[in-house]
Amino acid sequence: MVVTARTSLDAQKLRADFPIFEQEIHGKPLAYLDSAVTSQKPRQVLDAMRDFYETSNANVHRGVYTLSERATEAFEGARQKVADFVNAPDVREVIFTRQATEALNLVAYAWGLNNLGPGDLVVVTELEHHSNFVPWQYMAEKTGAGFRMLHVNEDGELDLSGLDEAARDGNVKVVAANLVSNALGTINPIEKLAAWAHAQGAIMVVDGAQAAPHHPVDVQALGCDFFALSAHKMCGPTGVGALWGRREILEAMEPFNLGGHMISKVRYESTTWGELPHKFEAGTSPIAEAVGLGAAIDYLNEVGIEAIEAHEQELAAVALERLGEIEGVTLYGPPADRRAGIVSFNVEGIHPHDVAQVLDSEGVAIRAGHHCCQPLMTRLAVAATNRASFYLYSVPEEIDRLVEGVQKTRKIFG
Ligand SMILES: Cc1ncc(COP(=O)(O)O)c(C=O)c1O
Repeated sequence: MVVTARTSLDAQKLRADFPIFEQEIHGKPLAYLDSAVTSQKPRQVLDAMRDFYETSNANVHRGVYTLSERATEAFEGARQKVADFVNAPDVREVIFTRQATEALNLVAYAWGLNNLGPGDLVVVTELEHHSNFVPWQYMAEKTGAGFRMLHVNEDGELDLSGLDEAARDGNVKVVAANLVSNALGTINPIEKLAAWAHAQGAIMVVDGAQAAPHHPVDVQALGCDFFALSAHKMCGPTGVGALWGRREILEAMEPFNLGGHMISKVRYESTTWGELPHKFEAGTSPIAEAVGLGAAIDYLNEVGIEAIEAHEQELAAVALERLGEIEGVTLYGPPADRRAGIVSFNVEGIHPHDVAQVLDSEGVAIRAGHHCCQPLMTRLAVAATNRASFYLYSVPEEIDRLVEGVQKTRKIFG
């Protein structure tokens, strides 16, 4: 059967930017359908990082010599690119972290420890990645606050009717949710959640790790207070992420990590903290990685984030249809027009690891597991799912190979 996806983005041409596709896996062209876990990197990003190390490498904010000034300029330039990418009102509100996980822990620790207590409530969702679930569960336990979970309906979409019920149990202080679910691709109504959170006097924390690579982000339009992202999921390197936070909240917060660079004055008697964003950037930052993130943002902007999203949604629609035609396949999550480029499924009687292994023998890389979403797996009554996820370099032929691989798996496992 011929795949009918016709997307406006020339993914085949973009693939030439990604050296990783020059190899074969088990003698077959690499079909990388696991971009939700980490994306591949274009030459433009690899070159920017190499160029930084070859021409500008020095520590930032420390030296008065030319090289250090050059490094600082590149690093702060990257911060500005992140700020523009998420439409932050002020570049000082962007903090570089190691990844989204550290960004979310920063908020949970630095805000949660001092603002939560008995009688308060933290509300998360059943769709959360452990990165935006476990830190809040832990912080609630530490502070004596309550912990509530907003459930999903049959389509894997949040049931907002549970919000008011949660609010009856205490003072809601935090609502934490992802904008795009990594397990099901569900796009969550953050604007509504943020409005509700603010009506309760709570802050809205958004895990944007899965949204930033694929979906236009405007933190002001979302109405959130914090937004976390990871570079490695958006064509950038591992080792760097970013947290955007509302300035007045960040300014009122205690620091997260302590040490060099984040201080104003250190005396034997006491220490005072530096200004934003430095207060939250203790130690040497991931400088070359931030430069790589800046180059990744340039790359995504050049391709066009709306075009990327439309391309992925078209691929997801075709994948849902084609997989749905295979006997014994269960699909999870909302309809194609309400999800990102992520397709989770199971094949009756066959463990996801077996499906993924057979696909690997065909050169097709997909994810099999709980996707760091165990509460959601419990809700779906499965231990794991298979997950295919698409990006700007994904092509329709890869869906053919995915479908053929699933059919082959069914034959092998009878
Ligand atoms: C929705 C979501 N949140 C958080 C994370 C954690 O990202 P990282 O490991 O880069 O911190 C992931 C990674 O899969 C994710 O998909």
